[in-house]
Amino acid sequence: MLAGKRILIVIGGGIAAYKVLEVIRRLKERGAQVRVILTHSGKEFVTPMTVGALSGEKVFSDLFDPTEEQDIGHIVLSRDTDLILVAPATANLIARMANGIADELATASLLAAAAPIIVCPAMNQRMWAHPATQRNAAQLAADGVRFIGPAEGRMAERNETGVGRLSEPMEIVAGVEAFFAQAEQPKPLVGRHVLVTSGPTIEPIDPVRFITNRSSGKQGHAVAAAAARAGARVTLISGPVSIPDPSGVDVVRVETAQQMFEAVFSALPADAAIMAAAVSDWRPTSVAHEKIKKTAGDPPPLLFVENPDILATLGHGAQRPKIVVGFAAETTSIEANAARKLATKGADYIVANDVSATGGVFGSDVNRVRILSKSGMDVWPTLSKEEVAERLIALVADRLR
Ligand code: CTP
Repeated sequence: MLAGKRILIVIGGGIAAYKVLEVIRRLKERGAQVRVILTHSGKEFVTPMTVGALSGEKVFSDLFDPTEEQDIGHIVLSRDTDLILVAPATANLIARMANGIADELATASLLAAAAPIIVCPAMNQRMWAHPATQRNAAQLAADGVRFIGPAEGRMAERNETGVGRLSEPMEIVAGVEAFFAQAEQPKPLVGRHVLVTSGPTIEPIDPVRFITNRSSGKQGHAVAAAAARAGARVTLISGPVSIPDPSGVDVVRVETAQQMFEAVFSALPADAAIMAAAVSDWRPTSVAHEKIKKTAGDPPPLLFVENPDILATLGHGAQRPKIVVGFAAETTSIEANAARKLATKGADYIVANDVSATGGVFGSDVNRVRILSKSGMDVWPTLSKEEVAERLIALVADRLR
């Protein structure tokens, strides 16, 4: 599967650098062409001689070495490749990447890269857990960088265990193979426009208060990411969430249901719409311009009006996308409620999930859903939200075909 693939490995300065020698060997065994850039601190852990012997290629390290730049140059080095693997990626290297710092050949090449990048972090567990590193890693993920690991286990420091270890060489190789397998998969949604709503809406009461629904946005964002991977142009209309934007997706940020409604209709036409947002059914009749003051013993009444039903308006409207998918978050009579929503909302599919206290869906990374359509019901096993998204997009792609 890796035959002829050109892989550039950036080796950072960490104890785990020696494990990457094994990665080089295994990638070469599988037919890949491997070139290596050593960071300056990487050279403290493995020698250019060893790396060169294993890769069978010249090893690069210095940005201002005229012979190296003449040989190939950092721009060519990072462009002439199908994948860049950064391993071990130290906290420092991740921080430099996240901030676009190009202070040596390795980081300059990463900044000039056109190829996809996979980062394999390796550091002490406290460094990995530090908010600065987490922020940097989230930034890289939002920039479209993929991650393998870090793994959990013993640290190089005595008596320390936790999350931060470099993934085992064979796990890294498997991750690289999975990357190419996915990259070479057919993209059934090329040329299609997919609309996705995600997250909650918030409905203001006064300048400081609002009502909202529980929703992390994880499922909706995963659907948008899966549609983008399938080649679609994706518009993701999202209420306030604290997760990063999926890469390769146009994100429209909204707060209220009315704003979401307008954003959806101005994003049309679309081939498919997947409405995963937890839209507030009601909003306060009026929004107070000033903060409502507390008067002892006299709580203010809250009056509501109904919000427009975005899904139902779309499902029955003139500009209806060919495929319309709704979600049904239920605490009781899940199937009956979902079946009713299929009809009233004019949807082709309803993805029903149990959000009762025992369902364990909110904020969780897994989901257990049933898919209702006119032709019946399909019960899916407990899956990660990414897997639910993949399957859903496969279903949509099938129907669009
Ligand atoms: N939905 C929408 N606009 C609304 C309310 C809901 O687009 N104003 C969409 C949601 O994004 C979801 C589906 O409708 O895809 C079902 O949402 P849910 O809250 O389960 O259904 P409701 O219609 O609000 O019904 P109920 O609150 O009675 O369960």
